[in-house]
Amino acid sequence: MRFSFDSPEYNSHYTMPRRPTHLPADAHSASNSPSAAKPATQPILPPSPDIPTALLGQLSPSQFMRRYWQKKPLLIRQAIPDIEAPLSRDELFELADQDDVEARLITHFRNKWQLEHGPFAPDELPSIKQRAWTLLVQGVDLHDDRARALLDRFRFVPDARLDDLMISYATDGGGVGPHFDSYDVFLLQVKGKRRWRISAQKDLTLQPGLPLKVLQHFEHDEEWVLEPGDMLYLPPHIAHDGIAEGECMTCSIGFRAPSESELTAQFLYHLAERGEATGKAGALYRDPRQAAVERPAELPAALVERVGAMLAKVRWNEQDIASFLGTYLSEPKPSVVFDPPQRPLNEARFIGVASKSGLRLDRKTNLLYERRFFFVNGEEITWDGAKKWLFDLANLRSMSAKRFVTLSHDSAVTSLLHEWYRAGWIQVGELA
Ligand code: SIN
Ligand code: CO
Repeated sequence: MRFSFDSPEYNSHYTMPRRPTHLPADAHSASNSPSAAKPATQPILPPSPDIPTALLGQLSPSQFMRRYWQKKPLLIRQAIPDIEAPLSRDELFELADQDDVEARLITHFRNKWQLEHGPFAPDELPSIKQRAWTLLVQGVDLHDDRARALLDRFRFVPDARLDDLMISYATDGGGVGPHFDSYDVFLLQVKGKRRWRISAQKDLTLQPGLPLKVLQHFEHDEEWVLEPGDMLYLPPHIAHDGIAEGECMTCSIGFRAPSESELTAQFLYHLAERGEATGKAGALYRDPRQAAVERPAELPAALVERVGAMLAKVRWNEQDIASFLGTYLSEPKPSVVFDPPQRPLNEARFIGVASKSGLRLDRKTNLLYERRFFFVNGEEITWDGAKKWLFDLANLRSMSAKRFVTLSHDSAVTSLLHEWYRAGWIQVGELA
């Protein structure tokens, strides 16, 4: 998967390839991230589906989804009044210098588009006095609780579709050029001003030979200057160009839309990995009737026929599909490494602390469910007990101390939560 600006082949807001398996939990730690030691922000629940909200221009999420989602653009003035950038410019630059962060620098100096990939040491970025450059930092929600809290406001869209929060910093005149994306995006202005021009044009031909996707012809049909708190929603394939007016920062909340070929390939891989496809995962190809050949390079017709018959036996059911989607879509991004507590509390102490201060999912944790099954960070969980508390933990991403106390006489619950705590998947204490 590639991000829109640097390749025509993309279907996700995020750029890194997905990893096949879990990385060891000790490679490096995100506790170097600028805000790791800072107090977290207040948990902000997503707006309820039927209540009008300033975030969507006084539409309810249900109305927004019906009228605009994947259909047409919407400009929302003061979607989040008094917004503050989740990260300062310096904090963003610090993040762009980390190995586990996807950062890109796009410059448009002397009319020439250039793209570089991070990490960027502070002296590798152009001066903030220089015009026309942009730094894009992907997946900021994985590194900062305030960014995660901002992303959480958009959870009226299923988590399975939500991708990440990207922050762009630009100097005057900076932008990534007129382009289009294949995913939905909310562009939230968090600092300074940006002029957005958009077009529903059908001609999406790209300029050849550039390191990023820039449209050959761009004729805008609407134009606005966005100020802090203003937001623009764009469905896929709406051409757009955002140019900074002075120094500015924009948060872009992006969604993932896997292609059919990606889903098919990954699903078959999932079936094969589980050895469930034919029920004969370990069976080897056999050919006791193979005759001696004169033309050794020729594929034997019987081989083609037998493999065809084998593939025709591949079977799956709805449970396999749910299990594939849950594990695949909850798989952390390739760069994600959890931070298990250095000196973990034993289960009794863990119960004591969580009974006083509750717990919450780590900002990097993905917890999804489908009627009977739960999926956490790419793993399917077998859970035969009562499920309501797990549904609630997945939806709220936190559990109050009171709720924990009620559940804590079930040792299966406390031992599962303790295991997740030890893996760094949950944190004790609600957001303060
Ligand atoms: C976008 O056009 O999708 C985001 C660009 C930016 O934030 O600079
Ligand atoms: Co875009």
